[in-house]
Amino acid sequence: MNITCDIKYIGVNDHNIDLFEGQYIVPNGMAYNSYIILDEKTAVMDSVGEGFGEEWLGNIDGALGGKAPDYLIVQHMEPDHSTNIISFAKAYPEAKIVASAKAFAMMKNFFGTDFADRQVVVGEGSALSLGNHQLTFIAAPMVHWPEVIVTYDSTDKVLFSADGFGKFGALDVEEDWACEARRYYMGIVGKYGAQVQALLKKIAGLDIEVICPLHGPVLRENLGYYINLYDIWSGYKVEEEGVVIAYTSVYGNTKAAVMELAKKLQEKGCKKVAVNDLARYDMAEAVEDAFRYSRVVLATTTYNADIFPFMRTFIDHLIERNFSNRTVAFIENGSWAPMAAKIMKGMLEKSKNITYTDTTVKIMSALDAESAVQLEAMAAELCR
Ligand code: FEO
Repeated sequence: MNITCDIKYIGVNDHNIDLFEGQYIVPNGMAYNSYIILDEKTAVMDSVGEGFGEEWLGNIDGALGGKAPDYLIVQHMEPDHSTNIISFAKAYPEAKIVASAKAFAMMKNFFGTDFADRQVVVGEGSALSLGNHQLTFIAAPMVHWPEVIVTYDSTDKVLFSADGFGKFGALDVEEDWACEARRYYMGIVGKYGAQVQALLKKIAGLDIEVICPLHGPVLRENLGYYINLYDIWSGYKVEEEGVVIAYTSVYGNTKAAVMELAKKLQEKGCKKVAVNDLARYDMAEAVEDAFRYSRVVLATTTYNADIFPFMRTFIDHLIERNFSNRTVAFIENGSWAPMAAKIMKGMLEKSKNITYTDTTVKIMSALDAESAVQLEAMAAELCR
């Protein structure tokens, strides 16, 4: 695949993976992107994950017609991109390795060597000329690891964006970009909104025609759409008006209340209502929804003098990703001593700019006339 006349795609698709980063289901696999810039000097942009070294080295060889590349540029050291640095270094002993100082320290930790005799250390504003192509490096610390750099090719107006603008899913499967890019972003990068905002500011002045991320498709058209979504996500802004109800239910009574609320919301004209059973739905999708929509209802039972475990895990995921700027409502169920609403509110204590509904629905085992009135009041508040 040609990205431009001189830049070619040399990445791989992984359909063998079970869980990405050890926790995210990837029904459509994963792409580990790598690129090669052909010029007087040739540069390979990042390597690929374990099990794909041979295929990747074959792609390099095919692109270069048997010649050796001059540089391997390492933007990110997470093993999905770095495992095959070693196989590259062995295959091309004359090639230089280009990376940040922190990345070289990580190479020492991962591989026992930092390639001292072939290092090119780069940082914010460093430049590398390949002949016609002029590369500038931009530090992107904590997007989402500390050693990350992104690379701008001013000749072809290409931004190599490391994990930024990446998504789940292999490249030989067609699917909507935003859905899996959002789940990827919220899960993997979501905690580092301030750092992503800093990177967006740095690239705002660049003339970019193509974005080449380390996962997901190369982005060429309507780049404002993707950059705007990244601004919304990293700014913890509401992407879409809507209500997401995240719930757990042990015997179905909390679920019955949740379904009744969803029905009432729709009757009152709420156009977007998402309902997620945290015990059965992909947790990463549920987290994605909480950051996507404006209003979040948390419904769970009191359990072991705490809340049901899936809800505790869910709220932990939200707060560790700086959940903020949302309206939150609680439905609690407890057969003898309901305390779930108090516990959930306590967990969100440090979250910024959360507006709570006046109404909390308290269920003592199953919906009754009193809790039904509360549900009606909550629906009215959420649709106001
Ligand atoms: Fe795609 Fe952070 O590795």
